[in-house]
Amino acid sequence: NKKKDFKGKDVLITAGPTLEAIDPVRYITNHSSGKMGYSLAEEARDRGANVTLITGPTNLQKPSGVKVIDIKTTEEMYEQTIKYFSSTNILIKAAAPSDYRPLYYSKNKIKKSEGDMSIEFTRNPDILRKCGEIKKAQKIIGFAAETEHMEEYANGKMKNKNLDMIVANNISEKGAGFKGDTNKAIILKNDGTRKEYPLMSKKNLAKIILDNIK
Ligand code: PMT
Repeated sequence: NKKKDFKGKDVLITAGPTLEAIDPVRYITNHSSGKMGYSLAEEARDRGANVTLITGPTNLQKPSGVKVIDIKTTEEMYEQTIKYFSSTNILIKAAAPSDYRPLYYSKNKIKKSEGDMSIEFTRNPDILRKCGEIKKAQKIIGFAAETEHMEEYANGKMKNKNLDMIVANNISEKGAGFKGDTNKAIILKNDGTRKEYPLMSKKNLAKIILDNIK
């Protein structure tokens, strides 16, 4: 029996990795499982929000009672996020979109040759930055996945991308970040508030993140 403190709110959440194709056989991606974003979607739904979940490919069951939009690439995630952003109250970007994609997609399978090979990458759009530029009354919550200088980098991302709050996780710490059921985070807000939390389940962290948005 949860409090319905997000009743009437439109909440847009992104989750999971993106997948950038090199040829019909290969792609680059990252270790995101989608668990953090799906936990947030379920928690927001249970607290009465209208939830839209934009998700990269994951092995997770699609949450019921949530509008789920499947995407593969960062460009597709960008398009869908921008499409829903204007009518949302809260955007939470737990996804791990690839910052780069192969410059050229080969329609045919790339054949191996004797020597080494290299792939040229080009920049993908920065979804959060764009949302920060066009935001009106929306609240934007970003994530920062770091391996060093975590708070400094997270704070920089919050300021540069015009965010209201950022959830920083050190992905090289045991039990934190990608894949597992737990995470450990520091929440920074643009009013200067800083809160540090112990290791806990992603479900519990999702609750705490929503408590911090109100
Ligand atoms: O999915 P799980 O296995 O449960 O793992 C959870 C998680 C580690 C993926 C999650 O907790 C997390 O940290 N998500 C953000 C991962 C990431 O891309 O971090 P970043 O520091 O590279 O990006 C900063 C922010 O910009 C993120 O909110 C990201 O969604 C966003 N971004 C990044 C790249 C891009 N092109 N556009 C973006 O909007």
